[in-house]
Amino acid sequence: MMSMAGVLSDLPARCRALLDHSTTLLVEAGAGSGKTALMAGRVALLLAAGIPTREIVAITFTEAAASELRERIEGFVNRLARADLPDELLSHCPTGFLPSSPRR
Ligand SMILES: Nc1ncnc2c1ncn2[C@@H]1O[C@H](COP(=O)(O)OP(=O)(O)OP(=O)(O)O)[C@@H](O)[C@H]1O
Ligand SMILES: [Mg+2]
Repeated sequence: MMSMAGVLSDLPARCRALLDHSTTLLVEAGAGSGKTALMAGRVALLLAAGIPTREIVAITFTEAAASELRERIEGFVNRLARADLPDELLSHCPTGFLPSSPRR
């Protein structure tokens, strides 16, 4: 995978995986490519869009991975609440992002 400091060739797909909350998506990507960051960001943006927590489930394979995912979601949520947009999310969508509209 190319350096994250450069322009990511899969940027449109990353942006969609982060922001397209109306579709079922399968993301396949290599080790260390940002899968967990993307999943945590997607959950944080769902919450920012007003989706109730009872409607969101994030599943992973081990207790350690679940703890990491929880911490990263919490980190993103805390930063979004302060309007401090994380680079890890902004770099997916360089034109910025707004929380998608609540579904109802
Ligand atoms: N968009 C991004 N821009 C810059 N750094 C990023 C970005 N996404 C993730 N990173 C950083 O890259 C590293 C790997 O990210 P992450 O853990 O999300 O990848 P992963 O695909 O889940 O890795 P693994 O295969 O080990 O589970 C982390 O240090 C993370 O902070
Ligand atoms: Mg991971």
